[in-house]
Formats: sequence, C-alpha cells, structure tokens
Amino acid sequence: MRWIHAAGRGLLVAVVLLTGYVASGVPADGARGEARGPLTLATAGDLTGYLGPLLEGWNRTHPDEPVTLVELPDSADETHEQMATDLRSATGRFDVLNIDVAWTSEFAAAGWIAPLERDRFPLDSFLPPVVDTATYQGKLYAVPYVTNAGMLLYRKDILDREGVRPPRTWAELERQASTLAPKYGLDGYAGQFLPYEGLTVNAVEAVHSAGGTILEGEGERVTVNSAAAREGIGFLARGVRDGWIAQEALTYKEEESRRAFQDGRLLFLRNWPYAYVGASGPDSKVAGKIGAVSLPGRDGPGTSVLGGSNLAVGAHARHPDSAADLIAYLTSERVQRQVLTKGALPPVRAALYQDPELIRRFPYLGTLRASVLTAAPRPKSPHYDQVSLVVQAVLHDAMAGRQTPAAAVRRLDRELAAVADRD
Ligand code: GLC
Repeated sequence: MRWIHAAGRGLLVAVVLLTGYVASGVPADGARGEARGPLTLATAGDLTGYLGPLLEGWNRTHPDEPVTLVELPDSADETHEQMATDLRSATGRFDVLNIDVAWTSEFAAAGWIAPLERDRFPLDSFLPPVVDTATYQGKLYAVPYVTNAGMLLYRKDILDREGVRPPRTWAELERQASTLAPKYGLDGYAGQFLPYEGLTVNAVEAVHSAGGTILEGEGERVTVNSAAAREGIGFLARGVRDGWIAQEALTYKEEESRRAFQDGRLLFLRNWPYAYVGASGPDSKVAGKIGAVSLPGRDGPGTSVLGGSNLAVGAHARHPDSAADLIAYLTSERVQRQVLTKGALPPVRAALYQDPELIRRFPYLGTLRASVLTAAPRPKSPHYDQVSLVVQAVLHDAMAGRQTPAAAVRRLDRELAAVADRD
C-alpha cells in the first residue's frame, strides 16, 4: 500500500494507465458504437494509492475502452471545486466521476450527471443506507462505490495499562483525554477541524451525538436551534479551550490527523477506517497498539455521518455505455473486495461484512457496519455546498473561541435559513 504525502499533492495529476496486452478472453461487450470507447475517471486524491493498479484489471480486458485516472486534490472541497468548474463548462472531460456521497443531489439538480438505469446494477446487494445517497427525486443518479463512517481510534496499549475501557460517552472521553494524555506526553483528542467538508462532518456528528439535528427534509427545514446543538458544539469548543484538543488540530484534515496518531502524538482520533489500516501498517509507530470503537456521544455511543463516494456518469460523457460498464465492474463483488483489501476503504457490498477472512484481517468491520447502518446522511440539498460552507465557518469560529456555542447556534440558524430560502 502506498501512503502518499500530502505535501507534493494538490495539483491536478493525471495518471495515464498502461492499457496492456489482453491476456485472456475478449471484452465482455459485443457491439461497439459511439457510446463505447476510452474513458476518464475523475476522483478525489487516492489516499491509499490503490486505484491505478485496480483499474489495470479493467484495462486488460477492455483494450478499446481503456480508462485514464484523473486524480484531483485530497481535500473534498478542492475536488468539488475542480469537478464543478469542469462540469459547468460541459467539456465532457470526465466520463465517470467518483463523487462524494454529499454531492449527488447538487450534481443531479444542476444537470451535471446523467440518470442511470436501476436494473443495470445489483442495488439489493448493497448496504441499504448507501443506495439512498445515490438517488435524487426518486431517480438513480450514481452507483454507491465506497461507504464510510467515523470511528474513534484509541491507544489500546495505554488504556490497557491504565486498566480503563475505551470511552463510550463524551464525559469519559474528556476525562481520559485530559488526565491520561498529558501523563504520556500526548495530545488528547483530534478530528478533522480545518474549515472544509471534514469539519462539517465532525460538527454534524457532534450535534447528532447529543440528540440534535442541523437540517431536515431535503435541507429546507433548519432544525439547529436546540439545546442539543449547543451541547454538541460545546463539546468541541470546550476541548480546545481546556486543552484536550490541541490548537494544532484546528489545521487537520484526514491525512494530518492520521499522521499525528500514527506518529504516536495522540491518544484519541476520530477518523475514517482507512486511518486504522494506515496506523497498523509498516510506517506507523503505533502498529499493534491501537483499537477502534464507535464514536462516543452525550449519553452513550454517538452517531457517525455517512461518508463515502458514488460513481456517476457525466452528462456530457463521451462514451456513456462504456462508462456504465466500468461502474458495474467497480461495484462487482470481486472488485469491491479489493477496494477493502487494497484500498483500505469500506465496500458497499453487504456480504463482505460477514466474510470471516475479511473480519480477521479488518477487525473493525463489525463496528463499522453498525456505524454505517445508523449513520446520519447529509441533507439532500441542491445547495449542500453552501450549507457546508456555513457550518465550517461557524464551527471554526466556535472552536477557536471567537464565538460562544450559543451564539454559534443562533448564527447557524440564521445563515442556514438564508441558504434554504434560495429554493
Ligand atoms: C471522506 C468521506 C466523505 C467526506 C470527506 C470529508 O472522504 O468518505 O464522504 O465528505 O471524507 O472530508
């Protein structure tokens, strides 16, 4: 597995894959028309470097429809910006787009991605909540490819030595982060707290884990004005104020926070499961010393946000039939297994979560499945990008101590209502 350093990234990198020699058999598809031919697949940064090699499997069996991987930045927001700019100008440069689950509605409402035929994909074999992230106004606009749910990674070696169980509530997390972490020279807790989609995710998880919500329906009902939202935001803001969340964590995205944990600088980390695999790998100083549990909440286990990505066909795709076939290939059970074993990403196929061999290799699969099944989806707002910008900005101010949790909730209520009014 190739763990990429974020430093040299950020620019658009096009990786042209070798199409190779057809070793066995012929392409499964018969007729060749205009709808068939070479493809591009645009994706956010491939943090585990698995996708290029995985696409070689397709290229070997589809020599007339080779796929070129276009890798965009790691940050969800920058990738969104680059995809949106391209789709808005209808260049047809991207045939298949690996889009964040949070964007399906926006891209569908804007006419940037084409509806797909449901019968062409085995949607019944997927975990149920993921299928919903791929539909908009009753139509299928994408096919689930990867799912995700936040988990709490912790230093098992330290908790075992102290004879304590991993935290199930915020009170337990706060206590352990503020008393044990300093004793071992560590920072207490971190998540993804730089202002970008990752902070929105962490904020939504905190509010839901206190029993509140931010928006309901398709994003038109603003429900954030509650004691629960003040508690959720208060939990994150208090962490920074009291020092069990380090100031530095206000600059973390997924990768920075994963590195802090695997370099042995953190007691607790909220991240996606890929970070567990990275922190168990050869580059990690804490391999063999970690565990993963559900996110803690106010009164018991909390709620994750449903993450992941869906594969969509661009509205101006040059070769839509080949594009749909590539999507069927990438969501087949065989390739989905590799998404987990090679990419460290949670597959969408339900059966893989019951596979004893995979459970042995990825001990967090049971916790992950439970977290996905109870996760909070992001609202299906056509203006989701605006919603997220508001949440990020307000949360960052609250965590940096520039605004009280109560004032932050009032501001969220006001600014989210202004976004919802655009419908
Ligand atoms: C992960 C999730 C995605 C989320 C993003 C936030 O990539 O899969 O859904 O929006 O992180 O940074």
